[in-house]
Amino acid sequence: MDTLDTPFSTLIRVASHEQHTEAETSTFMSDLLGGRLTVEAYARYTEQLWFVYRALEGSAGALRGDPVAGPFIRPELFRTAELQRDLAHLRGPDWRDGLHPLPATAAYAARVEECARTWPAGYVAHHYTRYLGDLSGGQIIRDKAERTWGFARKGDGVRFYVFEQITNPSAFKRGYRELLDAVNADDLERQRIIEECRRAFDFNGAVFRELGREFPLSAA
Ligand code: HEM
Repeated sequence: MDTLDTPFSTLIRVASHEQHTEAETSTFMSDLLGGRLTVEAYARYTEQLWFVYRALEGSAGALRGDPVAGPFIRPELFRTAELQRDLAHLRGPDWRDGLHPLPATAAYAARVEECARTWPAGYVAHHYTRYLGDLSGGQIIRDKAERTWGFARKGDGVRFYVFEQITNPSAFKRGYRELLDAVNADDLERQRIIEECRRAFDFNGAVFRELGREFPLSAA
């Protein structure tokens, strides 16, 4: 691909395409989409997401004015409150007591926080990997979760996947890709963002592997 003429949003999508397929077809995701996981496994997964979004959103305020990451900080994307409601539903009001991340999740969250502190362009890579995915494939996961475990449509348990303030996800994604295309970074830095995006996918893959080991064929 001629990288000079290709929009950055296309470059980053194409560069992560293979890893996206790996994530989709990971044992844990295949079991989830195949309706083979217990609700316990789903709750454990939701807990991991809480640690990741706490890292993404706990640092968001400080990045709001940043010339590179600032334009991406959009409160309508924030997921922490929704995850907390889902966890209260899945685990009860004491969901936070004794909650620990899996080792892969801890490493993932630590890297997001490190980028937020020291390298805002790297934070953009993590932001893209999670939020654009949630707006896309997340909807397939929500539908499956509702049907497998009987959550109310778009209700408690799957609120993480519901972006109440984004009425037109396709238009939002188009706008997001425009932000990517205009990201305040030169070609070398854009290449580094793509590398960090690959790393973000690797972190997600590692979390899926650890979940897969904890819930091997957890037929409900
Ligand atoms: C079973 C799991 C998954 C399914 C079914 C799925 C499905 C999809 C679909 C259908 C799209 C295309 C949307 C479009 O063209 O507008 C998409 C995009 C995306 N997904 Fe996933 N996905 C899954 C898992 C993941 C995971 C684990 C990640 C990373 C954490 C991820 C990150 C992304 C990203 C970043 C995009 C946007 C690509 C772009 O247009 O730039 N997905 N996903």
